[in-house]
Formats: sequence, C-alpha cells, structure tokens
Amino acid sequence: MKIAVARETREGETRVALVPELVEKLTALGVEVLVEPEAGYGAQISDDEFVEAGAEVDAGALGNVDVVVSVRPLSADAVRRLRRGTATFSFLPVNQEQALVADLRDAGITSFSMELVPRISRAQSMDALSSQALVSGYRCAIVAAGMLRRFFPLNMTAAGTVHPAEVVVLGAGVAGLQAIATAKRLGAVVRAYDVRAAAAEEIRSMGAKAIELDLETLEGSGGYAREMTEDRAARQMELLAPYIADADALITTAAVPGRQAPLLVTRAMVEQMRPGSVVVDLAAESGGNVEGSVPSEVVRIGNAQVWGGENVPAQMPGPSSKLYAQNIVNIVTLMTVKAEEEGGPATFAPDFDDEIVAGACVTHDGAIRHEPTREAIEGPAPEAPPEPDPAPDATTPEDQPYDQEADQ
Ligand code: NAI
Repeated sequence: MKIAVARETREGETRVALVPELVEKLTALGVEVLVEPEAGYGAQISDDEFVEAGAEVDAGALGNVDVVVSVRPLSADAVRRLRRGTATFSFLPVNQEQALVADLRDAGITSFSMELVPRISRAQSMDALSSQALVSGYRCAIVAAGMLRRFFPLNMTAAGTVHPAEVVVLGAGVAGLQAIATAKRLGAVVRAYDVRAAAAEEIRSMGAKAIELDLETLEGSGGYAREMTEDRAARQMELLAPYIADADALITTAAVPGRQAPLLVTRAMVEQMRPGSVVVDLAAESGGNVEGSVPSEVVRIGNAQVWGGENVPAQMPGPSSKLYAQNIVNIVTLMTVKAEEEGGPATFAPDFDDEIVAGACVTHDGAIRHEPTREAIEGPAPEAPPEPDPAPDATTPEDQPYDQEADQ
C-alpha cells in the first residue's frame, strides 16, 4: 500500500496533510509514504525532513498510489492524474464542490470528506473540524489582543491601575471556547454567549461569565445549534447590543452546520462600540456573524476595526498541519490492514459497514455515496417500481400440494 502527500494548490493554503514526525506511524503499518516535492513548503517543512523520516519525494506520486491525502480538495487536474480506484482524504465541502465531486465519481475515485466524519466518540481522534477550530479560536483571541491598542490584563502599578480589557465572545463551540480560554489566559474579562443549553456551563468552566439572555435555547441534532427564526434573531440582537457596546474586543465564532453563518451583530451595533475597539469575525468567509466584515481584510465600522477571518488555521500552519495530520493518520489507519509480517505490505481495505467509513465517503466505484450530494448533483432517485401484488401464499404446509408418493 502506497500513500501520497499532495502539495496544496489552493491559493493561500499553507498547511500540509502529513508531517515528518508522523510518517513512521504509517511506515510501521507497512505503508510506503510518497511526498510531492515541496509539499511542506508553506508549513516550513523541507523535503529533506520527510526523507529523513522515511518518506520518498516523488513528483509523480499522485498517479502511483492507493491513497492520496491533502488538506484542501485536489484540483480537477490532479484528479485526472489519479489511477481509478485511488482513495482520497481531504476537506471536501460537498455543497461548494459539486463539479469536483462529479469528477471524482467519473474518475472512479473513492473520496472521503473530513467534514463528514461522524462526530461520535470513536471518531474524535479523526475530527479535523475540531482540531482546526481549536487553532482558529486561539488565533482569533491573539489577533484581537494584537489589534487592541491597550492591555488585556489588569495592571496595578505604582503609577496607577490599568483596567483589564472587556472581551465578548459570541458562539462557544470548539473555536469559541478556545478563544475564551486564550483571552482569559491573557488576563481579559471575558463574557460569552451561545444558543445551546450546554454552553453556559462550558463557558463558566473556562473562567468566563456566561451571558444569560431571556430567550429559549436552540439545540439541533448531535449537540449542534439550530437556525434561529427572524424574530428570535432580532430579539437576540436587541439583548446583546448593550454587552457589545461595552466591549473593547468582540470575537464572533457562531456557525450552524450546513448553513450560512448566522448574522448576530449589525453595523448599527458595531457603531455603538467605543473608539479603538476591535471586532474579530471568524465566520466572515461563510457569510459573516458581523454585518460588513470582509474575509482577509480589516475594515472600519464606526469607531471599530473589524477583522474578517479567512482560512484562519492556515495562519498557523505548523500546529494546524500537525493536528490535521494526526486526524489523517488515524482515519487512514482505521481503513488499513497492517502487514502480516514485518517489512511486508499493508492493504487499504475500507469497511463500508463501519459508520465512520460510510459517513465520510463521498464517492466510490463510480457512484456518489453521500445521498444529499448525489441528489443535488444527479437529481432525485428514480421512483422504485410498485411492489407486485403478493402471490397467493403457497408456503404454508396446508397450502403445499400434498406429495403422496414422497410420503411412501
Ligand atoms: P460550530 O462550528 O458548528 O458552531 C460554533 C458555535 O456557534 C456552536 O457552539 C453553536 O451553538 C454556536 N451558535 C450557532 N448559532 C448561534 C447564535 N445564533 N448565537 C450564538 N451562538 C450560536 O460548532 P462546533 O464548534 O463544531 O461544535 C459545537 C458543539 O458540537 C460542541 O460544543 C459539542 O457539543 C459538539 N461537538 C461534538 C464533538 C464530538 O462528539 N466528537 C466534537 C466537536 C463538537
């Protein structure tokens, strides 16, 4: 079994799907590791480091392996270079990548989407959404602290007291909780709000104050948030406005799976903030939690500087690559049968009865396996022909023709 690490081709992507320190985890199974030249360039990892770890650097790697791993989806051109039956692992946002999914289907590729890995306990070590959200959350707090032209912590000095910064975090999922923890470590006073019932306790466990609004909580399936009605959204904005007006830094991380990020903060709410305040909108690239935020830009709204996040984990490619690579090694290992004897070859053998394998699979054997995506691309499944009328039941012993000869 051979695995190739692709060089990322999407603009601004600095991460790499495998890091040298994890190569041995695969070679120990009997997997040969090939790396496209300069695959680690954006993450400051040289080809030599991969070679020292036991990998081979090969410009033709993609066309010559059983499995290709990448962070972002492969380009259509790279898909054309794969052998039929090759498996790919990457982030693959199926709603935005329908043309590529059709290419993967037509090329007979078995593709797995890291976004679709079910969020069950057994799959936690493969949960790349969480590992990358952790990096994003940390980065958001650091960006806010860097942009704010004042201290985060309280300082009591002989010259007088400097009050700590007031930070408000909206959305307390994986990224939000990490932003809270980071801002707390820097000494800020942190308040946070999330629509989920469990969130208030999680916020308090990070040492922050939970903002409690007189609104019903919103819980969807799998512990995720549900979309808000317009009425509830308006009421939430009204109730949050005074907290935001009082904040030196606002960090927003709210998301609803499969939907555009909810708008939580209007331009008018930002205009109420004090001179010098900062806003960090992690959701800027998926619609924005803050009206007027622009991905990868800092814009001025009223007195505030508003920073829009875009591919934030790529701003810290070292740790985000390492965490992602761990997720990748774990999911590939789940589908790999180890070599029987030392030095022998491993086999790539995904078990489609396993809910992690079935859940994460997008295309396999010339078909789209992920039903909502299949329907979006190919249309509704043809209606099953009507069941034929049941034949007169001739199976009960009384109805069987009595074979007298056989009895004799
Ligand atoms: P996410 O990235 O989809 O959303 C971020 C946060 O935004 C969520 O906490 C959500 O409740 C919040 N949000 C949505 N609409 C909002 C609104 N209008 N106002 C304020 N906040 C809003 O979620 P993430 O971070 O991926 O995970 C959320 C939850 O999923 C976790 O706290 C946990 O319960 C569950 N989870 C389970 C895992 C597992 O079992 N392996 C792994 C990771 C998360």
